[in-house]
Amino acid sequence: MKLSIAIAALTASAANGQATDAPTPLCIESWRYQDQASWDSTLIPAFEAKHPNIKVTFAPNLDGSAAYYDQLPTQLANGTACDLITARPFDTSLELFNKGYLEDVTDMPVLDNFSKTAKTAWQTDDGKITFAVPMASVITGFIYNKDAFDALAIETPETQDDFYAALDKLKEDGTFIPLAMGGTGDFAHAYGSEKGFMSIGPNYWKGEEGRLALLDGSEKLTDEQWVDPWRQLLKWASYTSDNGMSLTQEESMELFMSGAAAVYPVGSWELHDLEEGVNGTFPMGVFKPPVPAEGNQCYIQDHIDMAMAMNAASAHKEAAQTFLDWVGSEEFSTLYANELPGFFPLSTFKVSVDDKLQNDMISWREDCESSIRPFFQFLDRHDPTTTAQSFTACGEVINGVKSPEEAAAEMQAVLETWYEPQMATKPSPSSAFITAVAFKGFGTTFAAAILAALLE
Ligand SMILES: *[C@@H]1O[C@H](CO)[C@@H](O)[C@H](O)[C@H]1NC(C)=O
Ligand SMILES: *[C@@H]1O[C@H](CO)[C@@H](O)[C@H](O)[C@H]1NC(C)=O
Ligand SMILES: *[C@@H]1O[C@H](CO)[C@@H](O)[C@H](O)[C@H]1NC(C)=O
Repeated sequence: MKLSIAIAALTASAANGQATDAPTPLCIESWRYQDQASWDSTLIPAFEAKHPNIKVTFAPNLDGSAAYYDQLPTQLANGTACDLITARPFDTSLELFNKGYLEDVTDMPVLDNFSKTAKTAWQTDDGKITFAVPMASVITGFIYNKDAFDALAIETPETQDDFYAALDKLKEDGTFIPLAMGGTGDFAHAYGSEKGFMSIGPNYWKGEEGRLALLDGSEKLTDEQWVDPWRQLLKWASYTSDNGMSLTQEESMELFMSGAAAVYPVGSWELHDLEEGVNGTFPMGVFKPPVPAEGNQCYIQDHIDMAMAMNAASAHKEAAQTFLDWVGSEEFSTLYANELPGFFPLSTFKVSVDDKLQNDMISWREDCESSIRPFFQFLDRHDPTTTAQSFTACGEVINGVKSPEEAAAEMQAVLETWYEPQMATKPSPSSAFITAVAFKGFGTTFAAAILAALLE
């Protein structure tokens, strides 16, 4: 199809004898076929209005993210991939770069308008080469039924104590199930509790500080700040409808949307569906993950999710570069945020969106420190990935199969078998850790599958 577009353009211009005037065709690979209308009716027209000599086509994989992961490397290898490649964070994209499929964009000036953390996911391990322009991140927190809170004069919780006081009040009253959350066992169930764990976790391990300390071996998963979030999660079980957390992700979402449950751990990518599902039957609000104690610095999970890279074999690199420049612009950030609710721009531009709940979630960035998922960089290079182990652990902890301490000790023990900075004897930890992790591609597929399911 892409080839035929190029040929059609050529044929048309040849027929007119105006080869030099023919616009340069560019196409974009993506797994987000859901975004076709946004690209076609808003994003691409905005770009083409400024660059009439470039004609852009959004050409996603219609079979979604699993097929995208599966086919993209072959397409890049056999020369049928588009000029622009929507890129997943960390190892899935790094693997493509290491094979020479993605262009080095380190020197693009637009990258100055992105934070260091935002770029981390599309860089080589040493941080020296960047191979994509960051596009979007997703934020997690809590959504609540305002009618439920108003009826019991509950204020939105700031601290963990406030949070439990609110849940206690709801439980005592009995009108609402305090918390809707899927819990256990397979992926579909553990998803809800893992989302909760990843929401509150950064408040305990201090976001990037803890994440990086885990990477350089100076903190362990058995340290209090890493075990505490699981202890909290365990407490949540008694506020759900069934104690045993038998609900799937979809069932728990339904429970909240039906108005039966008061609070739901939410990812920004779910807000749109929730608003549609609730359809104005009750007012909703969001609150950020409560901090352990009053006055604590707050941290949020602001996970980098999507970027745009250039196919190193593109025949239209100059035009692709122009497009990437635009992806790094304030105009793109604003349009994108409003077109694709729940996917927040990663640039440092201050962007406002029309949706109140979305805006509230973005505004958390002003008071809180942003942090990314703690296991995605380096720690998923093992089978099973650390991320996969944490999913299992969340389900086990919340159902009392394992204590928080046992779950943490088991994960730490696995880490010590393969991740050099966490091994008992290791070469000079501060300098060696980055180079110590040979890229093996272990577990990449599983990590990709998890992300795909999470953030589809
Ligand atoms: C290139 O790879 C893609 C993905 O596997 C495949 O669908 C396509 O048929 C291949 N094209 C050629 C020309 O080999
Ligand atoms: C970065 O952002 C500033 C505005 O905050 C803008 O003036 C500048 O042109 C941007 N840099 C690039 C390279 O786009
Ligand atoms: C949403 O609510 C409106 C009334 O406010 C109603 O007309 C519409 O059918 C509802 N949509 C759905 C999908 O239930």
